Amino acid sequence: MSKVDYAEMEKKYVYGTWTYQNKWNPRVIVSGDGCYVTDADGNRILDFSSQLMCSNIGHGNRAVIDAMTEQAKKLCFASPSFATPPAALLGKKLAEIAPGDLCKSYLTIGGAEANEAAIKIARMYTRKPKLVSRYRSYHGASSGAIALTGDPRTQNAVGMPGVVRAPDCYCYRCPFGKTYPGCGITCVEYIDEIIKLEGPHTVAGVVVEPIVGSNGILVPPDEYMPRLREICDENEALLIDDEVMTGFGRTGKMFCVEHWGVSPDIMSMAKGISGAYLPVGATMTSRKIAEYFDQPENNFSHGQTYANHPMCCAVSLATIEEYQKKRIVENAARMGKVMEKRLGELAEEHRSVGEVRGKGLFWGVELVRDRETKEPFVARHVKADPNIIQRVSAEAMKRGVYISNFINTLIIAPPLIATEKEIDEGARALGEALVAADKETR
Ligand SMILES: Cc1ncc(COP(=O)(O)O)c(C=O)c1O
Repeated sequence: MSKVDYAEMEKKYVYGTWTYQNKWNPRVIVSGDGCYVTDADGNRILDFSSQLMCSNIGHGNRAVIDAMTEQAKKLCFASPSFATPPAALLGKKLAEIAPGDLCKSYLTIGGAEANEAAIKIARMYTRKPKLVSRYRSYHGASSGAIALTGDPRTQNAVGMPGVVRAPDCYCYRCPFGKTYPGCGITCVEYIDEIIKLEGPHTVAGVVVEPIVGSNGILVPPDEYMPRLREICDENEALLIDDEVMTGFGRTGKMFCVEHWGVSPDIMSMAKGISGAYLPVGATMTSRKIAEYFDQPENNFSHGQTYANHPMCCAVSLATIEEYQKKRIVENAARMGKVMEKRLGELAEEHRSVGEVRGKGLFWGVELVRDRETKEPFVARHVKADPNIIQRVSAEAMKRGVYISNFINTLIIAPPLIATEKEIDEGARALGEALVAADKETR
């Protein structure tokens, strides 16, 4: 069957996500190998965004595929009321690699589910209703997770009540009009103010992506996360760290909060936990939370049919072993330096680049119409389709490189196994593609 047949068939029978159905024109992908995927016409495409920032160990990893096959031959499913070797081993492995005293996991099937569990656990543990999150954030599409989310995808979603949004840590466009370091990190201090105004006795926790992902790769100053930890402690609120996108080596450390030596109370993860070979997520909790649920009077009131799924757990375990055996996180840190240099050079050459920011192999290239005024190309809530950012991605794709984008930012996040040669190839295509945006600048 031809490429057009599959694309048309899928469009007819399967919803395209987060898109106007009539505008969705998917490319048919048929195979993957390392940092590349191949489409139905046989074109090899460098995956410069790890699909949805999740194919961290690249495509076609033999060890993970073997682990999946072996587990499938033994046991594909067990009710979560049973124990299985893969779930036990994955739980133990996560406790070994997670920061601080995170020690016990709820094992689920994706990032939104991990955050749903985080919300419920925080509320059960603190017996407080409210959660603070930020505007430029994405935490998942389900009712609780979309309520935490502040980005435009919240339109058409009436999520759960009890969420209070805080201003973003976005130095390039500081919500307080200030400049670091003279700003005194007002954005984090304001979270303290919010909790005080809401009433600390009502706030269960603060949920943040340690580096904001799809909403622009926003990297906080070094003081931000340690100060947020203090603010949470002072107000008896939990620090809930959403590492769904940043976890598992993406930023050059196994978990992003390790950059600042911060230990959260709850950490949600997904994506890189299984390198996206199967849908997996996890919600890890600190010792004090685990001990709370060890008390005979405290029921852990949460579960799903596919919790602790043996196939998912076996694949995650094999993926984490790959990170460790092949020193993939170390490669991400090393290649991150190469990427920083290449993107820095592109920023100098292209007037449409407003700012380049990131860590490890997690980079955002924010495009602007006017570098002086920082006038954006695309307004946040206005539908301007197809816009210049999407055109840059399309130009890169014409050159055989896949680069995802969101609002005004191109997201550069290749698999963590990327080599210097692959980074050069991607950066070269990006440079050529940026010419389209340069032409639209003032
Ligand atoms: C930070 C963050 N949290 C949660 C999610 C939701 O994960 P999922 O799409 O697996 O439900 C995402 C997805 O992109 C994410 O980036």
